[in-house]
Amino acid sequence: MSVQPKIYVAGHRGMVGSAIVRQVLTAGHPASQVITRTHAELDLTNQAAVNAFFAAEKPDQVYLAAAKVGGIHANNTYPAEFIYQNLMMQANVIDAAFRNGVQKLLFLGSSCIYPKLAPQPMREDALLTGTLEPTNEPYAIAKIAGIKLCESYNRQYGQSHGVDYRSVMPTNLYGPGDNYHPENSHVIPALIRRFHEAKVSQAPSVTIWGTGTPKREFLYVDDMAAASVHVMNLDKAIFDQHTQPMLSHINVGCGYDITIKELAEAIGKAVGYQGEIAFDPCKPDGTPRKLMDSSRLNALGWHAKIGLEQGLQLAYADFQKTTSSSL
Ligand SMILES: NC(=O)c1ccc[n+]([C@@H]2O[C@H](COP(=O)([O-])OP(=O)(O)OC[C@H]3O[C@@H](n4cnc5c(N)ncnc54)[C@H](OP(=O)(O)O)[C@@H]3O)[C@@H](O)[C@H]2O)c1
Repeated sequence: MSVQPKIYVAGHRGMVGSAIVRQVLTAGHPASQVITRTHAELDLTNQAAVNAFFAAEKPDQVYLAAAKVGGIHANNTYPAEFIYQNLMMQANVIDAAFRNGVQKLLFLGSSCIYPKLAPQPMREDALLTGTLEPTNEPYAIAKIAGIKLCESYNRQYGQSHGVDYRSVMPTNLYGPGDNYHPENSHVIPALIRRFHEAKVSQAPSVTIWGTGTPKREFLYVDDMAAASVHVMNLDKAIFDQHTQPMLSHINVGCGYDITIKELAEAIGKAVGYQGEIAFDPCKPDGTPRKLMDSSRLNALGWHAKIGLEQGLQLAYADFQKTTSSSL
């Protein structure tokens, strides 16, 4: 009888971690073989606590989806917390995993690891070729260190201990578990809230910052979770064929980008908002384009499945559930 691996999902209450738990359970993995701890139960910046947890639980696989994350404002205001906490969490988890015999670990990074002026679409080999976006540089440096931690443990302990630690870099994600805070959220949850409020108040128009022409890529979070499980479980020989020991991270995106205007129209439709959508070109636009090159992942046999229209409908349903339960 084959014994199912014991999987630890770090950050299981977060948007990505909760989607990974859903994905693993939906695929038939027994719930008894999935272990989680809340932040209150286990502070991952506490090395002794992390070591004790791994020694007691002895997981076989680790999804490292815990992180201190935030928008531009939070990154600018708390840069010390962003770099310190993320470095500590990933160093503690990766080292404790190694010391307790974990051979398979997946580290979640972010597209902000790439240089501000990286050629579009951004390929994995754009890493460390230029200056980062200053607003989230401390966070990005921590994420780059996470990739290099995985690679360094593979290089030193791959042969001797069977260590096989991998990293995935998601594009912008949305879906269940998103943060719908009015000021402090990403573009999709922020627009879902604004269009919903405009629908309820029957506002004649919604004005969006900028010209609406910048292009961005979005991936539904359950697709991200499916990609994470796919990369974790890829045969090592196949993974090695498509990666290099010191260039091993894998971009995860849907492969195409859309303008903010197209996005706003799609969200308006998903929410059922009937009014006008206006743009304020006096407000800043940001980078004209940000798209990941996901051809490495595609060559490894994974493609996104949930289109924007379906994803936005699911996300709006989640928003309604979340906001009605918080009233
Ligand atoms: N969301 C996106 O669009 C996106 C895009 C690209 C990459 N990613 C990456 O995906 C990963 C997960 O992001 P997410 O959106 O799921 O973030 P999230 O919703 O904020 O979840 C992060 C989780 O980590 C936990 N955590 C934070 N500090 C901790 C600590 N010291 N000890 C234990 N747990 C701690 C949080 O718990 P508490 O809330 O209790 O602190 C939370 O459950 C991150 O690495 C992020 O860079 C996300």
